Amino acid sequence: MVLALDLKGPRLLERALKILDEVYDQVAAVKVNRHLSIPLSLGELAKLVEAVHDRGLPAIIDCKVNDVASTNEVMVELFFEAGFDALTACPFTGWEGGLEPVFSLARRMGRGVILLAYMSHPGASRWYGGLFLDPFTLSLRRAFEAFAAQALNWGADGVVVGATRPWAVELVARVLKGRSLIFSPGVGVQGGVVEEALRAGADYLIVGRSIVESPSPRSAAATFNRLVEDTVARLHGGALNA
Ligand code: XMP
Repeated sequence: MVLALDLKGPRLLERALKILDEVYDQVAAVKVNRHLSIPLSLGELAKLVEAVHDRGLPAIIDCKVNDVASTNEVMVELFFEAGFDALTACPFTGWEGGLEPVFSLARRMGRGVILLAYMSHPGASRWYGGLFLDPFTLSLRRAFEAFAAQALNWGADGVVVGATRPWAVELVARVLKGRSLIFSPGVGVQGGVVEEALRAGADYLIVGRSIVESPSPRSAAATFNRLVEDTVARLHGGALNA
């Protein structure tokens, strides 16, 4: 499970560190999004990343890179210098003049890139779920499956597919054949079901509000974790990462 540390309100860094302390042994990684990356300074983000690392976990910045190369390069370099181990990127950006330097920088610095394949919200079906005519092969493909194939070509370390569409997780898993990881947000508040996402082939679930907005983040994380472990045991007869 990946913890989405999506907090709102005052004393963000202090509260983020507190929740991290409560749940770090229940999760496999920590993801930071705009909730923290906009209000906190880079120095504060670096402190948070250091605390995540001190607890033996990697830190992901969910910045959904989606601009021209020169701008992408500046943003990504700053996040990597702050210590983040991986970032998210949007495949619509394309390679030349878009994501190319993001991948090269990640390779050079030993960091990861996670590409969106199919977002979790209802409106994602309009484009991520649409039919796409590949300009190179002139074949028709659903965009999210083309993005999963592209993730392999570009050497992405993982893809994001919303748990709200377990059938899409399953189709992406067929494209990836275990050669890249599937991260699945959308369980809990967005309505995705843990068992269905895992059965469809998700490697990691991303969970935010159901944990961080709970009166007891620790027990909420532990409840998710038990469900994940029980499901994995039922599906594969074995244990998985937290
Ligand atoms: P919740 O509170 O819904 O938080 O459990 C989920 C976290 O994941 C992010 N999110 C996504 N990130 N593609 C992404 O890259 C998605 O389809 C997606 N859906 C949710 C969300 O911003 C929050 O941080």
